[in-house]
Amino acid sequence: MKTVIILGRQPELGLAELESLYGADNILPIGHQAALVDIDPCVFNFDRLGGAVKFCKLLTELESNNWTAIEQFLITSAPEQSTKMPAGKMTLGLSVYGFSMQPRQVQRSGLAIKQAIKATGRNVRVAPNNDLALSSAQVIHNKLTSSNGWELVIIKNGPKTIIAQTIKVQNISAYAKRDQARPARDARVGMLPPKLAQIIINLAVGQLPNDTLVNVCEAPDQNDAHVALKGTLLDPFCGSGVIIQEAMIMGYNCIGSDISNRMVDYTRQNIDWLSAQTNTPIKQQVNLNLTVADATKFDWPQKPDYVASEIYLGKPLQNLPNQTLLNPIIEESNRILGEFLTNIFRQLVPNGRLCLAVPCWRQTNGQFIHLPVIDSLGVIGYNRVSFQHYGVSDLIYYRSDQVVARELLVLTRK
Ligand SMILES: C[S@@+](CC[C@H](N)C(=O)[O-])C[C@H]1O[C@@H](n2cnc3c(N)ncnc32)[C@H](O)[C@@H]1O
Repeated sequence: MKTVIILGRQPELGLAELESLYGADNILPIGHQAALVDIDPCVFNFDRLGGAVKFCKLLTELESNNWTAIEQFLITSAPEQSTKMPAGKMTLGLSVYGFSMQPRQVQRSGLAIKQAIKATGRNVRVAPNNDLALSSAQVIHNKLTSSNGWELVIIKNGPKTIIAQTIKVQNISAYAKRDQARPARDARVGMLPPKLAQIIINLAVGQLPNDTLVNVCEAPDQNDAHVALKGTLLDPFCGSGVIIQEAMIMGYNCIGSDISNRMVDYTRQNIDWLSAQTNTPIKQQVNLNLTVADATKFDWPQKPDYVASEIYLGKPLQNLPNQTLLNPIIEESNRILGEFLTNIFRQLVPNGRLCLAVPCWRQTNGQFIHLPVIDSLGVIGYNRVSFQHYGVSDLIYYRSDQVVARELLVLTRK
């Protein structure tokens, strides 16, 4: 196992995404928030992962999970490690996952390691810990992935402890720009976060073929996000085009359609904007076909290899309405999903794969109301993909203040 990944806010989604792209046998969950991935870091496509926040190199595994022993190990080994870094002041950061302790204890350990490194004659600064783990923003702000930065990631792994070093964190400013700077946005159709769009695509495409894994260590100028990938991805409810945008960045040819002329025009405007952001316009690197179409009836002239979409979620809700008001909302989304799955069935190759974000509604007891048609997927002609490391029922994206959540259905055509 070569790479350590720290998973995002909903770790189960990040884990399913890793399992989808790299296969269950190559993934080993560590605690609740991290995973070891048996993929060469040089071919690991971190930028396309929506559910991962840190990409780390495994340094060692300790046989103990006792914090005093861990701290002692770091005090003893850090001074020698620091000699391998370029001369000059260094910044040290500590992020701790899976341990129950106070942030100030982590801070104290950081200061003890600092003293040990300082004794070798080197200036060290410690990034302050307000929480047990530093956020991506703190890692970037403190330049901890630069040549003079060093973030140690310490993860409890049952009776053992994994020690890793952060190589890369998610590019939060790029995500914010792709989310907020797009010219055509519409709050009424919901704002799909780009990270969730990436997860949906990664769940839809399944395991990455070996010949698409580009070695960025051998070709450092190659931007791994722009490798042309085989395959065409369809988003039949494309709205303002967030899934299309993320799939084009990954290198897929795309087909987008929506029943609304206005939304198709929004996607077009947004992709034109995206294309203008890159040196080689993205529209010259991959193909895009956009059409106004009812997804429950349309025959797409070009057959897709994958379908990734966020279907109609019903109207936005502040509170869960009573059954009489909720039922028609559920029925409409349910009808659209059922009719779409029936329509697309004959247009997919056997084993063709889909990931659809569909609405579910959170009740005050924390339980979700699901679309009834999900119980009949087998009858319509689909198998639901299950994930070895987490059950499918867990694949629900939600925020605690939201009533309408998104359930991610990963399906293959029979
Ligand atoms: C939740 S939004 C998708 C938002 C999209 N992910 C984005 O990036 O903006 C659902 C979309 O489905 C479209 N829609 C509703 N019924 C449809 C149908 N029968 N066929 C195609 N599109 C439909 C709506 O116009 C809306 O744009």
